[in-house]
Amino acid sequence: MDQSSIYLDNAASTRVDPRVIETMLPYLSQVYGNPSSLHSAGREAKEAMEKARALIAECTGAKAEEIVFTSGGTESNNLAIKGIALSRYRAGKHIIISAIEHDCVLNACGWLKTMGFDVDFLPVDENGIVRINELEKTIRSDTILVSAMHANNEIGTIQPIQEIGSICKAHGIPFHSDASQSFSKIPFDVNALNLDLATVNSHKIYGPKGVGALFIRKGIRITPLLHGGGHEYGLRSSTENIPGIVGFAHAAFLCRTELEPENRRLTCLRDKMIDTILEAIPVAYLNGHRHKRLPNNINMGFRGLEGEAIKLLLRLDEEGIEVSTGSACSSNDAENKPSHVLTAIGLNPVQARGAIRITLGRFTTDKEVGTFLQTLMTIIKDLKPITSI
Ligand SMILES: Cc1ncc(COP(=O)(O)O)c(C=O)c1O
Repeated sequence: MDQSSIYLDNAASTRVDPRVIETMLPYLSQVYGNPSSLHSAGREAKEAMEKARALIAECTGAKAEEIVFTSGGTESNNLAIKGIALSRYRAGKHIIISAIEHDCVLNACGWLKTMGFDVDFLPVDENGIVRINELEKTIRSDTILVSAMHANNEIGTIQPIQEIGSICKAHGIPFHSDASQSFSKIPFDVNALNLDLATVNSHKIYGPKGVGALFIRKGIRITPLLHGGGHEYGLRSSTENIPGIVGFAHAAFLCRTELEPENRRLTCLRDKMIDTILEAIPVAYLNGHRHKRLPNNINMGFRGLEGEAIKLLLRLDEEGIEVSTGSACSSNDAENKPSHVLTAIGLNPVQARGAIRITLGRFTTDKEVGTFLQTLMTIIKDLKPITSI
C-alpha cells in the first residue's frame, strides 16, 4: 500500500497503532513461551495473557473470567451462536437475529438451519434500526437465543441494544451482540447493555488481525466448538496467541483513554463530509441514520450512478483513495450480490449495488478529508449522473 494513499476503509480493518506494535514485540522475540507451560517462560506468557484479559474485562465491564480469547469476530460469533444452540437444543431450536447481521452470523445460523434449527429475522426500519416491537411478537416458548449487532458494519447504524436486552431478560432468553464495529468506538458496557454474550474484535480498533474475544456472562453455558487441551476455561482449545492478545488489550486500552476527544473529532469530520457531499452533489443520498451511527461511518448512494459504484471506487483508487462498496469481509462483493443490509432498509437491488462506504479512523486527517471531497466531486461530475450537478 502506497504510504501517501488516503485510507478511508477503517471498518474493513485498521492500521496497527505503533504504540500497540511496541507492546507486542517482546512477545514475539523474548517472551515466547507457551502460557500453559509450567516453567518461567510459560508463566511469564501466562501473566501477560491474564493482564490482557483483565484489561479487556475492564474495557467491557465484564469480569476477567467471562472473557474468552478467540481468533477474531467470525470465531467469536460462531462460538456464541453455535455454542448456545448446541448447549440449549433440548430447551428449543428457535433463534432470532436481526436482518442486517454480518455474514458470519447469517451463515452460522444458515448452518444451524440445516441441523433442524429455526431462524427468524428481525426487520429494520428505513434507517436500519431494528423494529423492536417485532421482537415480542417473534419470541416463542422455544426461543433459545437472540442476536443483534451493536453497530452495523455497512451503514454504521447503532441499535437499541439495551432495550432488546431487557426484553430478552424478561423472557429469560440469552442475548448476544456482535460488537465488532462498536467496541472501543462508542461507550460499551455489557451490564448497561443487558448482554449475556458479546463479540469484540482487535483489528477494527488499531490492534492486530486474528484476535478477538467473546464475553460469556457467568452462568451462561455454551458448548465449545474446538476440542483439545482445554484452554480458555475449556471453551476454546488451542495455544493462545500471546502477542496478538497483548496487542489487542493495549489497543482497547488506548481507545478507552482517547474515546471522548476522538469521538468528537470523528463525528465532526463525518458530519462535515456528509453535509458537504449532500450540498455539493444533489444526486447524493445518505444510507443509514443521520445521527444514530458510528462516528466514523458514511454510506452514500448517488442517484443516476447506481450501476457505477465499482467504477467510482476504482477511480478513487487511481487517485490514491481507498473506500469500499460495502462489507469488505463478505464474498457478496465478488459475486456482486446486492447488499442484504441496503435491501433491508428498502433500497432496490440496483441501488443496493450502488453505494460506497467511507470509514474514517484515528489516522485520518482534515487535509485527507478535504482531498477526498474534492476528488469525489470531480469524479462524480465526470461520471455524469442523470441529474447533472
Ligand atoms: C460486524 C462484523 N462482525 C464480524 C466481523 C468478522 O470479524 P473478523 O474479520 O475478525 O473475523 C466483521 C469484520 O468485518 C464485522 O464487521
